[in-house]
Amino acid sequence: MDLQFTRHRRLRQSANMRALVRENHLTIDDFIYPIFVAEGEDVKKEITSMPGIYNLSLDHLEEEMNEVVALGIKSVLLFGIPLEKDECGGQAYHDHGIVQEATRLIKAKFPEIIVIADTCLCEYTSHGHCGLIEGDQVLNDASLELLVQTAVSQAKAGADIIAPSNMMDGFVVAIRAGLDEAGFENVPIMSYAVKYASAFYGPFRDAADSTPQFGDRKAYQMDPANRMEALREAESDLMEGADFLIVKPGMPYLDIVRDVKNNFNLPLVIYNVSGEYSMVKAAAQNGWIDEKRIVMEMLTGMKRAGCDLIITYHAKDAARWLKEQ
Ligand code: PBG
Repeated sequence: MDLQFTRHRRLRQSANMRALVRENHLTIDDFIYPIFVAEGEDVKKEITSMPGIYNLSLDHLEEEMNEVVALGIKSVLLFGIPLEKDECGGQAYHDHGIVQEATRLIKAKFPEIIVIADTCLCEYTSHGHCGLIEGDQVLNDASLELLVQTAVSQAKAGADIIAPSNMMDGFVVAIRAGLDEAGFENVPIMSYAVKYASAFYGPFRDAADSTPQFGDRKAYQMDPANRMEALREAESDLMEGADFLIVKPGMPYLDIVRDVKNNFNLPLVIYNVSGEYSMVKAAAQNGWIDEKRIVMEMLTGMKRAGCDLIITYHAKDAARWLKEQ
Protein backbone atom coordinates (compact mmCIF):
# COMPACT_ATOMS: atom_id res chain seq x y z
CA MET A 1 0.00 0.00 0.00
CA ASP A 2 1.32 3.41 -0.89
CA LEU A 3 -0.74 5.83 1.19
CA GLN A 4 0.21 9.44 1.75
CA PHE A 5 -0.70 10.86 5.12
CA THR A 6 0.76 12.83 8.02
CA ARG A 7 1.79 11.01 11.20
CA HIS A 8 0.43 13.40 13.85
CA ARG A 9 0.84 10.69 16.46
CA ARG A 10 4.65 11.05 16.29
CA LEU A 11 4.34 14.00 18.64
CA ARG A 12 1.96 12.28 21.08
CA GLN A 13 3.99 9.19 21.91
CA SER A 14 4.94 9.87 25.51
CA ALA A 15 4.23 12.27 28.32
CA ASN A 16 7.54 14.02 27.76
CA MET A 17 7.00 14.30 24.00
CA ARG A 18 3.56 15.80 24.65
CA ALA A 19 5.03 18.23 27.16
CA LEU A 20 7.56 19.31 24.56
CA VAL A 21 4.90 20.35 22.07
CA ARG A 22 2.26 21.65 24.50
CA GLU A 23 1.11 25.09 23.35
CA ASN A 24 -0.72 26.47 26.37
CA HIS A 25 -0.10 26.24 30.08
CA LEU A 26 -2.13 27.02 33.14
CA THR A 27 -0.24 28.58 36.01
CA ILE A 28 -1.27 29.75 39.46
CA ASP A 29 -0.45 33.29 38.31
CA ASP A 30 -3.41 33.10 35.93
CA PHE A 31 -5.98 32.87 38.71
CA ILE A 32 -8.10 35.52 40.36
CA TYR A 33 -10.17 34.15 43.23
CA PRO A 34 -13.56 35.76 43.99
CA ILE A 35 -14.55 36.15 47.65
CA PHE A 36 -17.96 37.17 49.03
CA VAL A 37 -17.43 39.27 52.13
CA ALA A 38 -20.48 39.71 54.33
CA GLU A 39 -21.28 42.27 56.98
CA GLY A 40 -22.02 40.87 60.42
CA GLU A 41 -20.20 38.58 62.81
CA ASP A 42 -19.25 34.94 62.61
CA VAL A 43 -20.76 34.46 59.17
CA LYS A 44 -19.48 31.42 57.30
CA LYS A 45 -22.37 30.40 55.16
CA GLU A 46 -21.88 28.02 52.28
CA ILE A 47 -23.75 29.09 49.16
CA THR A 48 -26.16 26.25 48.47
CA SER A 49 -25.73 26.31 44.71
CA MET A 50 -21.94 26.82 44.94
CA PRO A 51 -20.48 24.07 47.14
CA GLY A 52 -17.15 25.13 48.64
CA ILE A 53 -17.86 28.87 48.28
CA TYR A 54 -18.94 30.90 51.30
CA ASN A 55 -20.28 34.21 52.46
CA LEU A 56 -17.60 35.22 54.95
CA SER A 57 -17.62 37.92 57.59
CA LEU A 58 -14.42 39.82 58.36
CA ASP A 59 -13.63 37.60 61.34
CA HIS A 60 -13.36 34.61 58.95
CA LEU A 61 -11.54 36.43 56.18
CA GLU A 62 -8.03 36.07 57.53
CA GLU A 63 -8.39 32.29 57.73
CA GLU A 64 -9.55 32.20 54.11
CA MET A 65 -6.72 34.48 53.02
CA ASN A 66 -4.15 32.30 54.80
CA GLU A 67 -5.33 29.41 52.68
CA VAL A 68 -5.35 31.46 49.47
CA VAL A 69 -1.84 32.75 50.11
CA ALA A 70 -0.50 29.31 51.06
CA LEU A 71 -1.75 27.98 47.72
CA GLY A 72 0.17 30.69 45.88
CA ILE A 73 -2.84 32.62 44.59
CA LYS A 74 -1.86 36.27 44.20
CA SER A 75 -5.09 38.11 43.58
CA VAL A 76 -8.63 38.14 44.92
CA LEU A 77 -11.79 39.82 43.68
CA LEU A 78 -14.07 41.14 46.42
CA PHE A 79 -17.87 41.24 46.38
CA GLY A 80 -19.74 42.76 49.29
CA ILE A 81 -22.89 41.63 51.04
CA PRO A 82 -24.21 44.44 53.22
CA LEU A 83 -26.69 44.04 56.06
CA GLU A 84 -28.79 46.94 54.82
CA LYS A 85 -29.74 47.73 51.25
CA ASP A 86 -31.40 50.91 50.02
CA GLU A 87 -32.67 52.51 46.80
CA CYS A 88 -29.32 54.16 46.06
CA GLY A 89 -26.93 51.41 47.16
CA GLY A 90 -25.39 53.62 49.85
CA GLN A 91 -23.25 50.85 51.34
CA ALA A 92 -21.37 50.47 48.04
CA TYR A 93 -19.68 53.86 48.44
CA HIS A 94 -19.62 54.10 52.23
CA ASP A 95 -16.04 54.54 53.45
CA HIS A 96 -16.66 51.78 55.99
CA GLY A 97 -18.64 49.55 53.64
CA ILE A 98 -17.90 45.85 53.76
CA VAL A 99 -15.64 45.74 50.68
CA GLN A 100 -13.71 48.78 51.94
CA GLU A 101 -13.20 47.17 55.36
CA ALA A 102 -12.27 43.80 53.85
CA THR A 103 -9.76 45.55 51.60
CA ARG A 104 -8.17 47.32 54.57
CA LEU A 105 -7.93 44.04 56.45
CA ILE A 106 -6.35 42.13 53.58
CA LYS A 107 -3.89 44.91 52.70
CA ALA A 108 -2.84 45.22 56.35
CA LYS A 109 -2.19 41.50 56.79
CA PHE A 110 -1.20 40.48 53.25
CA PRO A 111 0.19 43.64 51.66
CA GLU A 112 1.54 41.82 48.60
CA ILE A 113 -1.84 40.35 47.61
CA ILE A 114 -3.58 42.16 44.76
CA VAL A 115 -7.04 43.21 45.91
CA ILE A 116 -9.49 43.79 43.09
CA ALA A 117 -12.71 45.52 44.09
CA ASP A 118 -15.86 44.78 42.12
CA THR A 119 -17.53 48.11 41.49
CA CYS A 120 -21.27 47.74 41.13
CA LEU A 121 -24.43 48.72 42.97
CA CYS A 122 -26.60 45.63 42.55
CA GLU A 123 -25.46 43.92 45.75
CA TYR A 124 -26.33 47.11 47.66
CA THR A 125 -29.61 48.27 46.12
CA SER A 126 -32.98 47.19 47.49
CA HIS A 127 -34.25 46.73 43.90
CA GLY A 128 -31.20 44.68 42.85
CA HIS A 129 -30.37 46.73 39.75
CA CYS A 130 -26.85 47.93 38.98
CA GLY A 131 -27.78 51.64 38.98
CA LEU A 132 -30.28 54.21 40.15
CA ILE A 133 -33.82 53.66 38.98
CA GLU A 134 -36.59 55.97 37.90
CA GLY A 135 -39.86 54.19 37.18
CA ASP A 136 -38.79 51.03 35.42
CA GLN A 137 -35.63 52.60 33.93
CA VAL A 138 -32.07 52.18 35.14
CA LEU A 139 -30.54 55.64 34.79
CA ASN A 140 -27.18 55.74 33.07
CA ASP A 141 -25.56 59.09 33.78
CA ALA A 142 -26.92 59.55 37.29
CA SER A 143 -25.60 56.09 38.20
CA LEU A 144 -22.12 56.99 36.99
CA GLU A 145 -21.65 59.46 39.83
CA LEU A 146 -22.34 56.77 42.42
CA LEU A 147 -20.04 54.32 40.69
CA VAL A 148 -17.26 56.91 40.74
CA GLN A 149 -17.80 57.43 44.47
CA THR A 150 -17.70 53.66 44.97
CA ALA A 151 -14.44 53.29 43.04
CA VAL A 152 -12.78 56.18 44.86
CA SER A 153 -13.76 54.86 48.29
CA GLN A 154 -12.44 51.41 47.31
CA ALA A 155 -9.15 52.94 46.16
CA LYS A 156 -8.93 54.93 49.40
CA ALA A 157 -9.31 51.68 51.33
CA GLY A 158 -6.31 50.32 49.43
CA ALA A 159 -7.79 48.41 46.49
CA ASP A 160 -5.07 47.69 43.92
CA ILE A 161 -7.43 47.38 40.95
CA ILE A 162 -10.96 48.69 40.34
CA ALA A 163 -13.26 46.32 38.44
CA PRO A 164 -16.49 48.01 37.35
CA SER A 165 -19.15 45.45 36.41
CA ASN A 166 -22.28 47.56 36.13
CA MET A 167 -22.45 48.02 32.32
CA MET A 168 -23.48 51.68 32.40
CA ASP A 169 -22.08 53.47 29.33
CA GLY A 170 -19.12 55.67 30.13
CA PHE A 171 -18.21 54.00 33.41
CA VAL A 172 -14.56 53.64 32.47
CA VAL A 173 -13.99 57.28 31.52
CA ALA A 174 -15.99 58.49 34.54
CA ILE A 175 -14.15 56.24 37.01
CA ARG A 176 -10.76 57.06 35.44
CA ALA A 177 -11.42 60.79 35.86
CA GLY A 178 -12.68 60.30 39.43
CA LEU A 179 -9.69 58.20 40.44
CA ASP A 180 -7.22 60.64 38.87
CA GLU A 181 -8.86 63.60 40.56
CA ALA A 182 -8.64 61.85 43.92
CA GLY A 183 -4.93 61.16 43.41
CA PHE A 184 -5.26 57.50 42.35
CA GLU A 185 -3.83 57.84 38.87
CA ASN A 186 -1.84 54.64 39.43
CA VAL A 187 -4.84 52.46 40.24
CA PRO A 188 -5.72 50.42 37.12
CA ILE A 189 -9.22 49.68 35.85
CA MET A 190 -10.14 46.10 35.00
CA SER A 191 -13.28 46.69 32.99
CA TYR A 192 -16.09 44.20 32.59
CA ALA A 193 -16.10 45.44 29.02
CA VAL A 194 -17.97 42.55 27.46
CA LYS A 195 -20.65 41.35 29.83
CA TYR A 196 -23.65 39.44 28.59
CA ALA A 197 -27.12 39.33 30.14
CA SER A 198 -26.61 35.72 31.15
CA ALA A 199 -28.55 33.04 32.98
CA PHE A 200 -25.17 31.76 34.17
CA TYR A 201 -25.13 34.43 36.92
CA GLY A 202 -28.01 32.74 38.78
CA PRO A 203 -26.02 31.21 41.67
CA PHE A 204 -24.07 34.47 42.17
CA ARG A 205 -27.34 36.33 42.60
CA ASP A 206 -28.33 33.82 45.30
CA ALA A 207 -24.96 34.37 46.96
CA ALA A 208 -25.18 38.15 46.82
CA ASP A 209 -28.96 38.34 47.12
CA SER A 210 -28.85 40.62 44.07
CA THR A 211 -31.59 39.31 41.80
CA PRO A 212 -33.45 42.29 40.26
CA GLN A 213 -36.76 42.77 42.05
CA PHE A 214 -38.42 43.74 38.76
CA GLY A 215 -37.46 43.26 35.14
CA ASP A 216 -34.03 42.00 34.13
CA ARG A 217 -30.65 43.39 33.10
CA LYS A 218 -31.17 43.16 29.34
CA ALA A 219 -31.28 46.94 28.87
CA TYR A 220 -27.71 47.28 30.09
CA GLN A 221 -26.00 43.90 29.74
CA MET A 222 -25.38 42.45 26.27
CA ASP A 223 -27.49 40.15 24.15
CA PRO A 224 -25.91 36.65 24.11
CA ALA A 225 -26.59 36.47 20.36
CA ASN A 226 -24.17 39.29 19.53
CA ARG A 227 -20.56 39.14 18.45
CA MET A 228 -19.72 42.43 16.70
CA GLU A 229 -21.18 44.32 19.62
CA ALA A 230 -18.50 42.76 21.84
CA LEU A 231 -15.83 44.45 19.73
CA ARG A 232 -17.61 47.80 20.03
CA GLU A 233 -17.80 47.40 23.81
CA ALA A 234 -14.13 46.44 24.07
CA GLU A 235 -13.09 49.31 21.79
CA SER A 236 -14.94 51.98 23.73
CA ASP A 237 -13.54 50.78 27.05
CA LEU A 238 -10.02 50.75 25.64
CA MET A 239 -10.50 54.32 24.34
CA GLU A 240 -11.91 55.38 27.71
CA GLY A 241 -8.78 54.19 29.49
CA ALA A 242 -9.32 50.60 30.63
CA ASP A 243 -6.15 48.71 31.63
CA PHE A 244 -7.64 45.20 31.44
CA LEU A 245 -10.67 43.86 29.55
CA ILE A 246 -12.99 41.19 30.93
CA VAL A 247 -15.21 38.87 28.90
CA LYS A 248 -18.04 37.34 30.90
CA PRO A 249 -19.33 34.59 31.17
CA GLY A 250 -16.52 32.26 30.16
CA MET A 251 -17.21 28.83 28.75
CA PRO A 252 -20.07 29.64 26.36
CA TYR A 253 -18.23 32.77 25.09
CA LEU A 254 -14.78 31.48 24.08
CA ASP A 255 -15.31 32.73 20.52
CA ILE A 256 -15.68 36.23 21.95
CA VAL A 257 -12.50 35.81 23.98
CA ARG A 258 -10.61 34.96 20.80
CA ASP A 259 -12.16 37.88 18.91
CA VAL A 260 -11.20 40.34 21.63
CA LYS A 261 -7.70 38.87 21.90
CA ASN A 262 -7.16 39.20 18.17
CA ASN A 263 -8.34 42.80 18.07
CA PHE A 264 -7.08 44.45 21.25
CA ASN A 265 -3.75 44.38 22.98
CA LEU A 266 -4.78 44.77 26.61
CA PRO A 267 -4.44 42.01 29.20
CA LEU A 268 -7.55 39.92 28.70
CA VAL A 269 -9.50 38.37 31.56
CA ILE A 270 -12.19 35.72 31.35
CA TYR A 271 -14.80 35.33 34.09
CA ASN A 272 -15.64 31.66 34.64
CA VAL A 273 -18.93 32.55 36.36
CA SER A 274 -21.04 31.05 39.11
CA GLY A 275 -23.38 29.02 36.89
CA GLU A 276 -20.45 27.37 35.14
CA TYR A 277 -19.02 26.44 38.55
CA SER A 278 -22.35 25.09 39.82
CA MET A 279 -22.82 22.85 36.80
CA VAL A 280 -19.41 21.26 37.27
CA LYS A 281 -19.93 20.83 41.02
CA ALA A 282 -23.38 19.29 40.63
CA ALA A 283 -22.25 16.81 38.00
CA ALA A 284 -19.13 15.95 40.01
CA GLN A 285 -21.15 15.38 43.20
CA ASN A 286 -23.30 12.95 41.26
CA GLY A 287 -20.21 11.09 40.13
CA TRP A 288 -21.04 11.88 36.51
CA ILE A 289 -17.79 13.61 35.64
CA ASP A 290 -14.19 13.65 36.84
CA GLU A 291 -14.08 17.07 38.49
CA LYS A 292 -10.33 17.56 38.41
CA ARG A 293 -9.94 16.65 34.76
CA ILE A 294 -12.99 18.66 33.72
CA VAL A 295 -11.87 21.79 35.58
CA MET A 296 -8.30 21.66 34.29
CA GLU A 297 -9.53 21.07 30.73
CA MET A 298 -11.98 23.98 30.97
CA LEU A 299 -9.41 26.38 32.37
CA THR A 300 -6.81 25.31 29.80
CA GLY A 301 -9.40 25.82 27.07
CA MET A 302 -9.88 29.36 28.30
CA LYS A 303 -6.15 30.04 28.01
CA ARG A 304 -6.15 28.50 24.53
CA ALA A 305 -9.05 30.77 23.55
CA GLY A 306 -6.75 33.68 24.31
CA CYS A 307 -7.27 34.97 27.82
CA ASP A 308 -4.37 35.95 30.04
CA LEU A 309 -6.17 35.72 33.37
CA ILE A 310 -9.08 33.68 34.72
CA ILE A 311 -11.47 34.77 37.44
CA THR A 312 -12.65 31.44 38.81
CA TYR A 313 -14.27 29.90 41.88
CA HIS A 314 -12.19 26.79 41.06
CA ALA A 315 -8.96 28.72 41.76
CA LYS A 316 -8.11 27.07 45.09
CA ASP A 317 -8.74 23.55 43.79
CA ALA A 318 -6.90 24.24 40.55
CA ALA A 319 -3.95 25.69 42.46
CA ARG A 320 -3.81 22.50 44.54
CA TRP A 321 -3.97 20.32 41.45
CA LEU A 322 -1.24 22.31 39.73
CA LYS A 323 0.99 21.81 42.75
CA GLU A 324 0.44 18.05 42.68
CA GLN A 325 1.57 17.79 39.05
C1 PBG B 1 -22.49 42.48 39.54
C2 PBG B 1 -21.91 41.18 39.15
C3 PBG B 1 -22.55 39.98 38.79
C4 PBG B 1 -21.55 39.03 38.63
C5 PBG B 1 -20.34 39.67 38.87
N1 PBG B 1 -20.59 41.00 39.17
C6 PBG B 1 -23.97 39.63 38.69
C7 PBG B 1 -24.84 40.23 37.68
O1 PBG B 1 -24.44 41.03 36.83
O2 PBG B 1 -26.01 39.91 37.78
C8 PBG B 1 -21.75 37.59 38.31
C9 PBG B 1 -20.62 36.69 38.66
C10 PBG B 1 -20.95 35.25 38.64
O3 PBG B 1 -22.01 34.81 38.20
O4 PBG B 1 -20.07 34.49 39.09
N2 PBG B 1 -23.10 43.19 38.54
